[in-house]
Amino acid sequence: MTHVSPARNLPDSSKAAPAVKALYGGKSSRRVTVRDIAAAKERGERWPMLTAYDATTASVFDEAGIPVMLVGDSMGNCHLGYESTVPVTMDEVTILAAAVVRGTSRALIVGDLPFGAYQEGAVQALRNATRLVKEAGVGAVKLEGGERSAHQIELLVRSGIPVMAHVGFTPQSVNAYGGHPVQGRGEEAAQQLLRDAKAVQDAGAFAVVLELVPAELAAEVTRSLHIPTVGIGAGPDCDAQVLVWTDMAGLTGGRVPRFVKQYADLRRTLGDAARAFADDVVGGHYPAEEHSYH
Ligand code: KIV
Repeated sequence: MTHVSPARNLPDSSKAAPAVKALYGGKSSRRVTVRDIAAAKERGERWPMLTAYDATTASVFDEAGIPVMLVGDSMGNCHLGYESTVPVTMDEVTILAAAVVRGTSRALIVGDLPFGAYQEGAVQALRNATRLVKEAGVGAVKLEGGERSAHQIELLVRSGIPVMAHVGFTPQSVNAYGGHPVQGRGEEAAQQLLRDAKAVQDAGAFAVVLELVPAELAAEVTRSLHIPTVGIGAGPDCDAQVLVWTDMAGLTGGRVPRFVKQYADLRRTLGDAARAFADDVVGGHYPAEEHSYH
């Protein structure tokens, strides 16, 4: 095959979204680090995060200037055909995270620890996070849970692995929730969410995802933390926003959650392309003279 691997297509910084160039440290071609993320919070700068599950798509986002990509366990339902994130394994995350790292040269790549990879305790978390750092080359890991995951976060951070935490709705507990309820509604639940966010900050997390949280509560959490909050269904006042890329680009089939904004209609575009190719092949129009060798 003569195709060029995405990793060899170095991102052209002139194509990056102007709003996020600062996070890259001007013209620097190094990767974004957790120190850049901390500095952005101090400067009051917002930043975008997208999920990515393969090298080619990640290279497009890298070139567009997306400073942080999450190889999320959302790969389960968005990429691997599972019903939820629950069945995703360490092997699957490691292989896909390595591909995303190979496809990028500037973004900070965060690898998700899947369900069952850290719940046993801090030592199990360290073993699996170390695997993601060494085998896939990620710059940070993410895990779910507030107070309940503080021990795991503490050991990873003490061992030199940056951790992004995740509170509010935590998809790996979907079976316990019995659905996708908004979290932190009511005084008691709001106080618990604030305690969870504080606990992961105190444990050393460099950022925290807030998922499905009322906008007013997310704003309060964001004001009360010195680490950035990354909102998904958590209103406009978080320091950063994350979307699952297939939702953002309109590739996901069926209904998407209310918080999703679709910036493209890739499902239609790709379907149209596939139908046009099929018509050309059946009609004898492809390959044409210019596609043939003699
Ligand atoms: O796995 C994932 O993609 C996530 C984001 C939705 C934050 O956890």
